[in-house]
Amino acid sequence: MKLAESVNAHIAALKPYEPGKPIETLERELGIDGAIKLASNENPLGPSPLAVEAIRRAAAGAHRYPDGASFRLREKLSGRLGVAPGQLVFGCGADELLELVAKAFLRPGDEAVFAWPSFAMYPIVVQGMGAQSVRVPLDARLVHDLPALAKAVGERTRLVFVCNPNNPTGTSVGRAAFDAFVAGLPEGVVLVVDEAYAEFAVRPDFPDSLGWLPRRPGTMVVRTFSKLYGLAGARVGYAVADPELAGYLERARHPFNLNVLAEEAALAALDDREHVERTLALVHEGAQFLGKELAALGLEVWPTDANFLLVRAGAGVYDRLLREGVIVRPLAGFGLPEHVRITIGTKEENERLVAALRRIGGRP
Ligand SMILES: Cc1ncc(COP(=O)(O)O)c(C=O)c1O
Repeated sequence: MKLAESVNAHIAALKPYEPGKPIETLERELGIDGAIKLASNENPLGPSPLAVEAIRRAAAGAHRYPDGASFRLREKLSGRLGVAPGQLVFGCGADELLELVAKAFLRPGDEAVFAWPSFAMYPIVVQGMGAQSVRVPLDARLVHDLPALAKAVGERTRLVFVCNPNNPTGTSVGRAAFDAFVAGLPEGVVLVVDEAYAEFAVRPDFPDSLGWLPRRPGTMVVRTFSKLYGLAGARVGYAVADPELAGYLERARHPFNLNVLAEEAALAALDDREHVERTLALVHEGAQFLGKELAALGLEVWPTDANFLLVRAGAGVYDRLLREGVIVRPLAGFGLPEHVRITIGTKEENERLVAALRRIGGRP
């Protein structure tokens, strides 16, 4: 039998995740230096210096397997979040938690419901299990349409993903709408609340998703050290879930999925209040600056609760920005050919982006 006949058909049909273009690739392609990347919602300040030091120290112990239970990180984080240590599950980035919940709950023929456009990994992990994605369009303001999402939940639904704040729009849902949605979800459907960007949210009524864990078994909140904590390259994510659900995710994961360097980096980053505060200030000031400057250029900018902006900049702006040495994220693949997603950068990066847009003129 040929390999193409023996591979799982749903795996062969998978369209792999497309990451943001790396800086080195663009520089090589254009033969330039000094390109900037505002495409992957990374922390423009880099990792916490305490985390860098912790990685350096931990490197000497890299010949040992990690503590498979991540005891120290579990203790510290559970204390911070006010949950029991057994409610935490760690992963190689939040991505792994999405994959673990798909692995634990989806069979071929099952359905997973989520808004669209939303995080590109949802359809990938769903298809990876041979299950079906049910995509519910965002509303006219590009916000989750929670009543429509609720209606899309049916007999075959096992999972519902709610990305809040939503990637790639930066929009969010507030507490009243969220609570009404969660209260109406059928028992047995696993609710995955993806809060990769929640720490950046500015709306005062941001939902208390963790508050639902004791009240609704089958709920998990996914967070990451990749954004606020600047550790995208170290790959640390976690889920907080009710103890039963956490137990299933634990059974599904590899024993050493969090490596020794990553655990030490995350522990140190949690203690670096200064780095966190600097990051939040930079992102919030950058959002205001870019919002004002881009609107002055005649571009439509969405209000954001994340560390990036959705901008209707006009078709072709992604390619023209590349030629200016500025990498943003094109959204044509999400059905938004005139929009780009722009990570809020340092003050200098934001200014460079504005200057480049002014030069190329990005009006739709
Ligand atoms: C909404 C959302 N969820 C999850 C992730 C995955 O994060 P991680 O780097 O922790 O795998 C991302 C990364 O961009 C994201 O945007």
